[in-house]
Order: sequence, then structure tokens, then C-alpha cells
Amino acid sequence: MEISNGDFLLLRDYVNQRTGLFFEDKKKYLFDMRVDKRVKEVSCDTASEYYRILKFGLRVGELDNLVNLLTTNETYFFRNLPQLQTFSDEVLPELIRHKNDTHKEFNIWSAGCSTGEEPYTLAMLVRDKLKDLQNWNIQILATDIDREALEECRKGIYGSRSIKDVPPQYLMTHFTYSNGFFMVKPEVRRMVNFGYLNLIDKIKMTTFRDMDIIFCRNVLIYFDLDSARQVVNGFYDSLKPGGYIFLGHSESMSRLSAAFKLVRLKNGTVYVKE
Ligand SMILES: C[S@@+](CC[C@H](N)C(=O)[O-])C[C@H]1O[C@@H](n2cnc3c(N)ncnc32)[C@H](O)[C@@H]1O
Repeated sequence: MEISNGDFLLLRDYVNQRTGLFFEDKKKYLFDMRVDKRVKEVSCDTASEYYRILKFGLRVGELDNLVNLLTTNETYFFRNLPQLQTFSDEVLPELIRHKNDTHKEFNIWSAGCSTGEEPYTLAMLVRDKLKDLQNWNIQILATDIDREALEECRKGIYGSRSIKDVPPQYLMTHFTYSNGFFMVKPEVRRMVNFGYLNLIDKIKMTTFRDMDIIFCRNVLIYFDLDSARQVVNGFYDSLKPGGYIFLGHSESMSRLSAAFKLVRLKNGTVYVKE
């Protein structure tokens, strides 16, 4: 069903206001298809009837159902290897050097973790870097707005597409293989805590504090500018002074915030809270 322009604008703006996600006019066809799926599932006759269900909360969890369809969940293990080398060969050693014997702890946050490949990759890299892991208290937090994606995270089972860029030694060490699927080993899974978070929720964002490193890659490209700015300001408050933030390779802070310093390292760049 093609949605009228008026209903498209109502629904598009409602989704934007609640999630930060923004669908340009040229994405109307894609948006319509996904909304139409929900319109049919909840047995509405029209898109405007569906809009009323959302707006007045007439069906519990309906916004979540729609969001699960509207998010782009593209991700895979070891995505953007040079950036991960920056993390593991330059940023992590620097962080480790600054921790003394009584404070052997750090917090990493994968914000917009999708189905979990990113935070598990970070856990694998941390394991390999810290030979005395048992002496450390490492929190890897992974959050997303998509509840179905979070279910996949918790299962920790992946198909061949997800593992296509995993270096062979990591595949051998950190996965078990069965019936065409790759399962992340329990010791890696135990390092990551998953949770629901809508990054646009200012109040919930204030509960994320004392982060040493934030990864928010390939998330803000789907937001409008104001929402992206709001999220980045939230990250600023979540980070410790000197903390690091990694954005996706096509993303930049230039229009979002002047509060971070862009630092060029051997393998890539990272933003630092001064
Ligand atoms: C393309 S994936 C990025 C996954 C991973 N960071 C990577 O780079 O491989 C974008 C993720 O952002 C999530 N997302 C979109 N809007 C969000 C919001 N308002 N709050 C939290 N997560 C959101 C989506 O559900 C999706 O899983």
C-alpha cells in the first residue's frame, strides 16, 4: 500500500521525534513498505489509523515493533579493521598504561550494537591484549533500540556473512562451529552485557557514566542533525575526561560537536574528550 504524503509526513516525523531516525523524502518507498507491514499486522484499514495507534499508545509495544522494522542492522565482526587496530594497538595500551594496580578497570560502550558482532569483537581484542585478564574488571556494555537484534546478541550464534572478516586465528580461538553456524565462546560472551537503550532518551542517557571508550559506529548517519547533536552531547557527559569515541568511517564530529579533539594515530583517527 502506498501511504499518502500527508500520512508519510506524520509517521516519519513521529518516528524521528521518538528515535532520532530520519527518513528523507526519497526513502518514502522503503518507509511505506515497512509501515505497511505493521498496518496489516495490526489489522488497520489505513495508515492514518495506524498513526493514531502509535501516537496515543493504543497498542502496547507497537513503536518497538515498527522500530524493529525501520532500523538498519547491517554489521559484522571485525568491521573496519584499521580502526580496530587503532583501538587495540594504540588506544588500549595507552589506557592500560594509565591504570594503576588499585584501579585495574575500564568501561567500554558499544552504542547501537545491532546483533552483537561489534561488542563481541571488542571483547576478543581486549582478551588478546590483556594477558592478566583475571586481574582486571572490564565492563563492555552493548545497547540498541532494536529488541529483536538484542535477542540475537544474547544467542551469540552467527552465520557465514557475519564472520567473513574474522582473522583465522580469532575464528579458531573464540568461536565454536556447528551445523553451518559459528558460536561465540562463553568466556567472550560473559564479557559483554546487553541492554535496551534509545539513544534519544535524555534521561536514560544520564545513567551511562564513567566510560573510557565509546563505539558508536554507523548509527548517527541514520539520524537528523539535531538528534545526532543531542546524542553526541550525551556521549560527552558519559565519557571520563580523556575518554575516546569511535564513529563510523563515513561519520564525523565536524557538524555535531566542537567539544572533542580529533587525534590522528598510526592506523586511523579517534575523538578524545579533552
Ligand atoms: C548499522 S547498525 C550499526 C551496528 C554496529 N555499530 C556497526 O557499526 O557494525 C545501526 C544500529 O543502530 C541502532 N539504532 C538506531 N536508532 C537507535 C536509537 N535511537 N537508539 C539506539 N540504537 C539505535 C539500530 O537498531 C541498529 O542496530
